[in-house]
Amino acid sequence: MADTDSLLAEALAKIAEADTLDLLEQHRVAFLGKKGSISALMKTLGGMSPEERSEAGARFNVLRTEVADALAARKVALESAALEAKLASETLDLSLPAPEASTGSVHPVSQVMDELAEIFADMGFAVATGPEIEDDWHNFTALNMPESHPARAMHDTFYFPDSDEQGRSMLLRTHTSPVQIRSMLKEGAPLRIIAPGRVYRSDSDATHTPMFHQIEGLVIDKGIHLGHLKWTLETFLKAFFERDDIVLRLRPSYFPFTEPSVEVDVGYSMEKGRRVVGGSGDDEGHAWMEVLGSGMVNRKVIEFGGLDPDEWQGFAFGTGVDRLAMLKYGMDDLRAFFDGDLRWMKHYGFAALDVPTLSGGVGVSA
Ligand code: DAH
Repeated sequence: MADTDSLLAEALAKIAEADTLDLLEQHRVAFLGKKGSISALMKTLGGMSPEERSEAGARFNVLRTEVADALAARKVALESAALEAKLASETLDLSLPAPEASTGSVHPVSQVMDELAEIFADMGFAVATGPEIEDDWHNFTALNMPESHPARAMHDTFYFPDSDEQGRSMLLRTHTSPVQIRSMLKEGAPLRIIAPGRVYRSDSDATHTPMFHQIEGLVIDKGIHLGHLKWTLETFLKAFFERDDIVLRLRPSYFPFTEPSVEVDVGYSMEKGRRVVGGSGDDEGHAWMEVLGSGMVNRKVIEFGGLDPDEWQGFAFGTGVDRLAMLKYGMDDLRAFFDGDLRWMKHYGFAALDVPTLSGGVGVSA
């Protein structure tokens, strides 16, 4: 009797004190294992008289069950304590600031192209494209620059060593004007397009890069005259620079593909030491800045486009997109546009979701 009571007390005390699962397992083996003390007690039943056996057997069974239950309960307690400790050590501090995630931004050139597409779409212009690897017929001849024309030499053209099947010299287009020809030949008339894209010239300094961006505009219809050109450019420049006080100056000029040709200047003033488009352009602190080449489409160009110049007239314009971006957003070195410097992009880039719209404003803040 005293045996079982003291064994039970000893077992329960040891189980209660066990603070690791390993130690608890050692106790289980020591009491209930094949060679454990309770198992040894069970074995003594064989040498007992039937009366002793039934009395002692009942006691031993109670002892074994109580020790087994205590072991099981302590095991559950130790396991859940271990889980609690693990969870506590792995806690996330949700009040910490989120790690800085890198986000992409829209390059000013892409932004300005989107702004231009938005503004001209509102005036009924579609966006047209052409190849950057062009032939000299589309790039020069069809734009009224025959082989001997001096304007060809002014374009610092990158030529490819081989000609195409028709014997035309291949080159990197020097301007977006060949898209005029391609659009007329493909779409016919009437036509209202803009053509933004990359162009190439063998030229490099602070204001010239071998690759840069232009946008071309072309309207072909009946009865088109210089007034349409002036209104369109004025409407475009006011929307683009987001100012109503823009004053234009049209200067007579020369381009082989337009006749007459006009160069368009906008007035600017100095505000806080920065050149700002807008203002009258003729008094103190004001000046003119050239922004566009344009003119009435030359009859020969309309013919090269497969149309009858007695029936169809038009106007065209072209300008540098990089230059427009520099003027609007106050960037001074063209080369930075192509350096791929992420710090520059972070400073001048545009949030990807700030898409230009006429209702929300085309020039979302940089
Ligand atoms: N293609 C000209 C250039 O690269 C720009 C230009 C001037 C385009 C007058 C035109 C235009 O369509 O009418 O410098």
